[in-house]
Amino acid sequence: MAITLAALAGLAFALARPTPYGNDQSSCDTIYHGYQCQDEISHYWGQYSPYFSVPSDIPDELPHGCSITFAQVLSRHGARDPTASKTAQYNATIYKLQANVKNFTGPYAFLAHYEYTLGADQLTIFGQQELINSGIKYYNRYEPLTSRLAPFVRSSGEARVVESAQNWTQGFHAAKLADRRVQSADTAFPYPIVVIPETDGENNTLNHGWYYVFLLILCNTFENGPDDNIASDGQAQWAAVFIPPIQSRLNAALPGANLTVSETVYMMDLCPFNTVASSNGTISAFCALFTKEEWHQYRCVQYSAPASDPIRATC
Ligand SMILES: *[C@@H]1O[C@H](CO)[C@@H](O)[C@H](O)[C@H]1NC(C)=O
Ligand SMILES: *[C@@H]1O[C@H](CO)[C@@H](O)[C@H](O)[C@H]1NC(C)=O
Ligand SMILES: *[C@@H]1O[C@H](CO)[C@@H](O)[C@H](O)[C@H]1NC(C)=O
Ligand SMILES: *[C@@H]1O[C@H](CO)[C@@H](O)[C@H](O)[C@H]1NC(C)=O
Ligand SMILES: *[C@@H]1O[C@H](CO)[C@@H](O)[C@H](O)[C@H]1NC(C)=O
Ligand SMILES: *[C@@H]1O[C@H](CO)[C@@H](O)[C@H](O)[C@H]1NC(C)=O
Repeated sequence: MAITLAALAGLAFALARPTPYGNDQSSCDTIYHGYQCQDEISHYWGQYSPYFSVPSDIPDELPHGCSITFAQVLSRHGARDPTASKTAQYNATIYKLQANVKNFTGPYAFLAHYEYTLGADQLTIFGQQELINSGIKYYNRYEPLTSRLAPFVRSSGEARVVESAQNWTQGFHAAKLADRRVQSADTAFPYPIVVIPETDGENNTLNHGWYYVFLLILCNTFENGPDDNIASDGQAQWAAVFIPPIQSRLNAALPGANLTVSETVYMMDLCPFNTVASSNGTISAFCALFTKEEWHQYRCVQYSAPASDPIRATC
């Protein structure tokens, strides 16, 4: 999994102070709580889940007598299309289904006319909006500081990460313009973004350097050490456990399909990817092909957790 991150830092202080903001989002996807649509499944898509806030036992009120003088947010890029290699495999899976299955019935009926149109690697409109929302939320949360300061922004060099940082600044800027207590125009916008390349020899603390298998790799032990395949090994082991019953059900419902284990996982992946390909995050028809329990198992595949990981106890 590519851990490319946009780090977005700023000076700030104040209490959490939710402010309604004009944005016609559906009620299950909001700036302050993130994506809560069908949360019993959509929060179980691992790295493919849209941003959502989680309950915490740690109170977010400031202790009496304290004030915030600095705040930092470290963010993953927004929701994106599949990677280039995955998009080709997803397309091939749909192509195979449509070539071999003569009769799509029940919840599978949509597959007869489903057209694969997902792109590769870049943010979707929904993913751009996630970061705009993050900028708005951050601005309003720390308004006494953000209203008088410009943020300092750092981003790793991959295109979708830089665009995420840009969208975050756009949200921050829009919230500042909407802030009645701010008199002056936000002349510091567009705020400069320090972009750190992901190439060899760069000491890029926002990227572990997974593309670069040469000597100057930043996290060489992580990339090429004894555990470098721990994620893909763990994924394959777990898929071999939980996928076969799902695979049998799909192949029985779709005579001629003959989906493999990997292709069955791809059918599941198409739920989150088609959901975030919709500009308002409408849950895709692929999602209804699987049960809540199956989505809870799927989360573990996306976490890439090895057998020893405590998260497995919840799988
Ligand atoms: C999302 O957009 C689709 C069409 O683009 C529309 O049919 C649907 O009602 C919208 N959903 C919400 C919750 O706004
Ligand atoms: C498709 O499947 C349905 C339900 O099993 C069946 O009633 C129908 O006759 C089938 N159609 C064709 C063209 O095979
Ligand atoms: C999907 O595969 C078909 C057949 O190979 C190809 O013609 C089409 O361009 C592909 N579509 C996408 C979106 O990759
Ligand atoms: C996100 O930022 C990019 C680059 O500035 C811009 O082209 C795009 O329109 C922005 N997205 C939205 C939803 O405004
Ligand atoms: C990265 O850090 C190493 C070790 O401190 C240093 O030799 C190298 O010049 C740094 N590279 C860059 C691009 O700053
Ligand atoms: C199903 O696919 C497997 C390979 O994954 C192949 O060996 C087998 O012959 C296929 N079965 C049919 C009926 O096409």
